[in-house]
Amino acid sequence: MVDCMARVIEQHSLSSDYFMLLLKAPEVTATARPGQFVHVRVTGLSEAALRRPFSIYGADQGVLALIYKTVGRGTEQLARLAAGDTVSVIGPLGNGFPLDCGGRVPILVAGGYGVAPLSFLARRLGRRGVLLVGARRAEDILCACDFADLAWDVRVATQDGSRGERGLVTDLLDACLATSPEASTEIYACGPDGMLRAVGERAVAAGVRAWLSLDKHMVCGVGACLACVQRLRRADGAEWIGRVCHDGPVFEAREIVW
Ligand SMILES: Cc1cc2nc3c(=O)[nH]c(=O)nc-3n(C[C@H](O)[C@H](O)[C@H](O)COP(=O)(O)OP(=O)(O)OC[C@H]3O[C@@H](n4cnc5c(N)ncnc54)[C@H](O)[C@@H]3O)c2cc1C
Ligand code: FES
Repeated sequence: MVDCMARVIEQHSLSSDYFMLLLKAPEVTATARPGQFVHVRVTGLSEAALRRPFSIYGADQGVLALIYKTVGRGTEQLARLAAGDTVSVIGPLGNGFPLDCGGRVPILVAGGYGVAPLSFLARRLGRRGVLLVGARRAEDILCACDFADLAWDVRVATQDGSRGERGLVTDLLDACLATSPEASTEIYACGPDGMLRAVGERAVAAGVRAWLSLDKHMVCGVGACLACVQRLRRADGAEWIGRVCHDGPVFEAREIVW
């Protein structure tokens, strides 16, 4: 983990609320793994303002790529950055997704900007699988072409029916699990809590291993403040309290006590 000042190489809009930010940060990208995140101090907010966590979308040739949605003060300020500006970045943080799926077909389940770490994962897994991506409307479906370029099987659901199937990403997952023997697939998911819980419950019921990247509000990002605690369960059934930033953000579905 390093703490560095990263220079903005480029920033562009992906759709109305989503941006891609490219930062020169070779110290961070050198060891970054899919599912890890960076903690960014947003330039222009007061020194006392908290850092914001963002998943790593790409880490190639010293360029750190992030995808973010503007939801509040920090991300709206982030969207004002231009080439040549600098931001303070700590990372890579967290555990990341396991990269060995033991010969099973990876099923990636993404909601909204949750597609960012899953695209990085697809590029590093070294085998093809299925991407199930869901959102409220077509404009919220991001980066599906990344997976199509890798010849992945891409299936889309939107709640308003403006792209792909009308419905939830879990409807796509139900259809997928119904046709796959339990030992042949491995699930990786990132998205809103409700989606992750629904994915985890389906995986446990189907006897399929699922790796879920939890999205919790964070303060320190390094395990010191206990802002991001999550109830977890060990294999022997004993419960413990983990820190999503330090022990996660990726946990196997059976570990999580919702
Ligand atoms: C491990 C991790 C990875 C993340 N990766 C990404 C990413 O790749 N792209 C991206 O756009 N966002 C990501 N987020 C969420 C991102 O950190 C928040 O959207 C961001 O901090 C909001 O900052 P803000 O100042 O704009 O919003 P604020 O003004 O702080 O909040 C605005 C609204 O967003 C909600 N919000 C803030 N933080 C979160 C959060 N962590 N989860 C859910 N709701 C939140 C607040 O409750 C509020 O309603 C990630 C969060 C975590 C924990
Ligand atoms: S954010 Fe401080 S312990 Fe996780």
